[in-house]
Amino acid sequence: MQLFLDTADVAVLKALAATGLVDGVTTNPTLIAKTGRPMLEVIAEICGIVEGPVSAEVAATESEAMLAEGRKLAGVATNVVVKAPLTREGLIAVRQFAAEGIQTNVTLCFSAAQALLAAKAGANYISPFVGRLDDHGAVGMEVVSEIRAIYDNYDFDTEILAASIRNPGHVAAAAIAGADCATIPPEVFESLFKHPLTEKGLQTFLSDWAKTGQSIL
Ligand code: G3P
Repeated sequence: MQLFLDTADVAVLKALAATGLVDGVTTNPTLIAKTGRPMLEVIAEICGIVEGPVSAEVAATESEAMLAEGRKLAGVATNVVVKAPLTREGLIAVRQFAAEGIQTNVTLCFSAAQALLAAKAGANYISPFVGRLDDHGAVGMEVVSEIRAIYDNYDFDTEILAASIRNPGHVAAAAIAGADCATIPPEVFESLFKHPLTEKGLQTFLSDWAKTGQSIL
Protein backbone atom coordinates (compact mmCIF):
# COMPACT_ATOMS: atom_id res chain seq x y z
CA MET A 1 0.00 0.00 0.00
CA GLN A 2 1.31 3.44 -0.92
CA LEU A 3 1.53 5.95 1.93
CA PHE A 4 0.71 9.55 1.05
CA LEU A 5 1.00 12.56 3.32
CA ASP A 6 -2.13 14.69 3.68
CA THR A 7 -0.58 18.12 4.10
CA ALA A 8 0.52 21.31 2.33
CA ASP A 9 3.04 22.16 5.07
CA VAL A 10 6.33 21.99 3.22
CA ALA A 11 8.53 21.92 6.32
CA VAL A 12 6.59 19.01 7.79
CA LEU A 13 6.62 17.25 4.42
CA LYS A 14 10.41 17.59 4.08
CA ALA A 15 10.98 16.08 7.52
CA LEU A 16 8.79 13.05 6.85
CA ALA A 17 9.90 12.64 3.21
CA ALA A 18 13.42 12.17 4.59
CA THR A 19 12.28 8.80 5.99
CA GLY A 20 11.87 7.55 2.41
CA LEU A 21 8.42 6.26 3.34
CA VAL A 22 6.32 9.00 1.73
CA ASP A 23 5.05 7.87 -1.67
CA GLY A 24 2.98 10.96 -2.51
CA VAL A 25 1.04 13.94 -1.16
CA THR A 26 -2.57 15.05 -1.12
CA THR A 27 -3.71 18.60 -0.53
CA ASN A 28 -7.13 20.25 -0.43
CA PRO A 29 -8.32 23.86 -0.25
CA THR A 30 -8.37 23.78 3.57
CA LEU A 31 -4.76 22.56 3.76
CA ILE A 32 -3.65 25.14 1.20
CA ALA A 33 -5.45 27.92 3.08
CA LYS A 34 -3.60 26.95 6.28
CA THR A 35 -0.27 27.70 4.58
CA GLY A 36 -1.20 31.31 3.82
CA ARG A 37 0.80 30.95 0.59
CA PRO A 38 -0.14 31.04 -3.11
CA MET A 39 -1.46 27.61 -4.13
CA LEU A 40 0.58 27.21 -7.31
CA GLU A 41 3.78 28.08 -5.43
CA VAL A 42 3.07 25.51 -2.70
CA ILE A 43 2.15 22.77 -5.19
CA ALA A 44 5.30 23.43 -7.23
CA GLU A 45 7.44 23.20 -4.07
CA ILE A 46 5.74 19.98 -2.95
CA CYS A 47 6.24 18.45 -6.41
CA GLY A 48 9.93 19.20 -6.07
CA ILE A 49 10.14 17.36 -2.75
CA VAL A 50 8.33 14.12 -3.67
CA GLU A 51 8.49 12.30 -7.00
CA GLY A 52 5.18 10.54 -6.44
CA PRO A 53 1.67 11.81 -7.14
CA VAL A 54 0.74 15.20 -5.66
CA SER A 55 -2.99 15.94 -5.54
CA ALA A 56 -4.00 19.58 -6.11
CA GLU A 57 -7.71 20.37 -5.89
CA VAL A 58 -9.73 22.62 -8.16
CA ALA A 59 -11.89 25.27 -6.48
CA ALA A 60 -14.46 25.71 -9.26
CA THR A 61 -17.80 23.90 -9.16
CA GLU A 62 -18.79 24.00 -12.85
CA SER A 63 -17.09 21.52 -15.20
CA GLU A 64 -15.74 24.02 -17.72
CA ALA A 65 -14.17 26.13 -14.97
CA MET A 66 -12.83 22.96 -13.30
CA LEU A 67 -11.20 22.01 -16.61
CA ALA A 68 -9.51 25.40 -16.92
CA GLU A 69 -8.21 25.23 -13.33
CA GLY A 70 -7.17 21.59 -13.65
CA ARG A 71 -5.22 22.18 -16.83
CA LYS A 72 -3.34 24.99 -15.08
CA LEU A 73 -2.62 22.79 -12.05
CA ALA A 74 -1.49 19.91 -14.27
CA GLY A 75 0.94 22.29 -15.95
CA VAL A 76 2.75 22.98 -12.66
CA ALA A 77 4.58 19.63 -12.64
CA THR A 78 4.35 16.20 -14.26
CA ASN A 79 3.44 14.54 -10.95
CA VAL A 80 0.40 16.74 -10.28
CA VAL A 81 -2.86 14.82 -9.92
CA VAL A 82 -5.91 17.05 -10.34
CA LYS A 83 -8.43 16.62 -7.52
CA ALA A 84 -12.12 17.19 -8.21
CA PRO A 85 -15.16 16.65 -5.97
CA LEU A 86 -17.52 13.74 -6.56
CA THR A 87 -20.30 15.81 -8.07
CA ARG A 88 -22.05 15.66 -11.45
CA GLU A 89 -19.92 18.54 -12.69
CA GLY A 90 -16.80 17.04 -11.18
CA LEU A 91 -17.29 13.73 -12.98
CA ILE A 92 -17.98 15.47 -16.28
CA ALA A 93 -14.64 17.24 -15.85
CA VAL A 94 -12.88 13.99 -14.82
CA ARG A 95 -14.01 12.29 -18.04
CA GLN A 96 -12.49 15.12 -20.07
CA PHE A 97 -9.29 15.11 -18.00
CA ALA A 98 -8.99 11.38 -18.70
CA ALA A 99 -9.36 12.06 -22.44
CA GLU A 100 -6.56 14.62 -22.16
CA GLY A 101 -4.27 12.33 -20.18
CA ILE A 102 -4.49 14.41 -17.02
CA GLN A 103 -4.36 12.30 -13.85
CA THR A 104 -7.32 12.73 -11.48
CA ASN A 105 -8.23 12.06 -7.87
CA VAL A 106 -11.98 12.19 -7.18
CA THR A 107 -12.47 13.42 -3.63
CA LEU A 108 -15.25 13.76 -1.05
CA CYS A 109 -16.45 10.21 -1.71
CA PHE A 110 -18.78 8.78 0.96
CA SER A 111 -20.38 5.75 -0.69
CA ALA A 112 -19.50 2.78 -2.89
CA ALA A 113 -22.14 3.87 -5.38
CA GLN A 114 -20.37 7.21 -5.78
CA ALA A 115 -17.06 5.37 -6.26
CA LEU A 116 -18.62 3.30 -9.05
CA LEU A 117 -19.45 6.49 -10.95
CA ALA A 118 -15.91 7.83 -10.41
CA ALA A 119 -14.39 4.66 -11.86
CA LYS A 120 -16.72 4.81 -14.86
CA ALA A 121 -15.68 8.45 -15.37
CA GLY A 122 -12.07 7.28 -15.61
CA ALA A 123 -10.72 8.58 -12.31
CA ASN A 124 -7.16 7.50 -11.52
CA TYR A 125 -7.81 7.70 -7.76
CA ILE A 126 -10.95 7.67 -5.59
CA SER A 127 -10.79 9.17 -2.09
CA PRO A 128 -13.35 7.72 0.33
CA PHE A 129 -13.35 9.85 3.51
CA VAL A 130 -13.17 7.22 6.24
CA GLY A 131 -12.86 9.49 9.29
CA ARG A 132 -15.69 11.79 8.32
CA LEU A 133 -17.99 8.78 7.82
CA ASP A 134 -16.97 7.51 11.28
CA ASP A 135 -17.65 10.98 12.68
CA HIS A 136 -21.26 10.54 11.47
CA GLY A 137 -21.74 7.13 13.06
CA ALA A 138 -21.00 5.04 9.99
CA VAL A 139 -18.12 2.55 9.61
CA GLY A 140 -16.04 4.36 7.03
CA MET A 141 -13.74 1.44 6.36
CA GLU A 142 -16.70 -0.66 5.23
CA VAL A 143 -17.06 1.71 2.30
CA VAL A 144 -13.43 1.05 1.38
CA SER A 145 -14.10 -2.72 1.42
CA GLU A 146 -17.23 -2.26 -0.68
CA ILE A 147 -15.35 -0.18 -3.24
CA ARG A 148 -12.60 -2.81 -3.37
CA ALA A 149 -15.18 -5.50 -4.11
CA ILE A 150 -16.84 -3.47 -6.86
CA TYR A 151 -13.56 -2.46 -8.51
CA ASP A 152 -12.33 -6.06 -8.43
CA ASN A 153 -15.64 -7.36 -9.82
CA TYR A 154 -15.30 -5.19 -12.92
CA ASP A 155 -11.49 -4.78 -13.20
CA PHE A 156 -11.60 -1.03 -12.76
CA ASP A 157 -8.10 0.52 -12.77
CA THR A 158 -9.07 3.34 -10.42
CA GLU A 159 -6.90 3.21 -7.30
CA ILE A 160 -8.55 3.40 -3.88
CA LEU A 161 -6.96 6.20 -1.83
CA ALA A 162 -8.26 5.88 1.74
CA ALA A 163 -8.60 9.43 3.09
CA SER A 164 -9.70 11.27 6.21
CA ILE A 165 -7.45 8.94 8.22
CA ARG A 166 -7.63 9.59 11.97
CA ASN A 167 -5.28 7.04 13.60
CA PRO A 168 -2.81 4.16 12.97
CA GLY A 169 -5.71 1.71 13.19
CA HIS A 170 -7.22 3.32 10.12
CA VAL A 171 -3.93 2.84 8.24
CA ALA A 172 -3.80 -0.87 9.07
CA ALA A 173 -7.51 -1.32 8.37
CA ALA A 174 -7.17 0.38 4.99
CA ALA A 175 -4.39 -2.04 4.05
CA ILE A 176 -6.49 -5.00 5.23
CA ALA A 177 -9.47 -3.70 3.24
CA GLY A 178 -7.29 -3.62 0.13
CA ALA A 179 -6.87 0.12 -0.40
CA ASP A 180 -4.12 0.93 -2.90
CA CYS A 181 -3.05 4.01 -0.96
CA ALA A 182 -3.81 5.86 2.27
CA THR A 183 -3.31 9.58 2.71
CA ILE A 184 -2.24 10.26 6.26
CA PRO A 185 -2.12 13.50 8.29
CA PRO A 186 1.45 14.22 9.51
CA GLU A 187 0.62 13.69 13.18
CA VAL A 188 -0.85 10.26 12.42
CA PHE A 189 2.13 9.40 10.22
CA GLU A 190 4.48 10.29 13.08
CA SER A 191 2.47 8.12 15.49
CA LEU A 192 3.02 5.12 13.18
CA PHE A 193 6.64 5.11 14.35
CA LYS A 194 5.67 4.92 18.02
CA HIS A 195 4.31 2.13 20.16
CA PRO A 196 4.67 2.11 23.97
CA LEU A 197 5.66 -1.57 24.05
CA THR A 198 8.39 -1.00 21.46
CA GLU A 199 9.77 1.87 23.54
CA LYS A 200 9.58 -0.20 26.74
CA GLY A 201 11.19 -3.21 25.13
CA LEU A 202 14.01 -1.13 23.65
CA GLN A 203 14.79 0.42 27.01
CA THR A 204 15.05 -3.06 28.51
CA PHE A 205 17.36 -4.25 25.71
CA LEU A 206 19.59 -1.19 26.11
CA SER A 207 19.71 -1.54 29.88
CA ASP A 208 20.62 -5.23 29.70
CA TRP A 209 23.19 -4.58 26.96
CA ALA A 210 24.84 -1.86 29.05
CA LYS A 211 25.34 -4.41 31.82
CA THR A 212 27.47 -6.59 29.51
CA GLY A 213 30.07 -3.83 29.17
CA GLN A 214 30.53 -4.93 25.58
CA SER A 215 30.85 -2.83 22.43
CA ILE A 216 29.89 -4.11 18.99
CA LEU A 217 32.42 -1.88 17.17
O1 G3P B 1 -7.44 15.69 2.14
C1 G3P B 1 -8.45 14.75 2.00
C2 G3P B 1 -8.87 14.16 3.31
O2 G3P B 1 -7.86 13.32 3.78
C3 G3P B 1 -9.17 15.19 4.37
O3 G3P B 1 -9.89 14.55 5.37
O4 G3P B 1 -11.38 14.64 7.37
O5 G3P B 1 -8.90 15.00 7.61
O6 G3P B 1 -10.29 16.77 6.52
P1 G3P B 1 -10.11 15.29 6.80
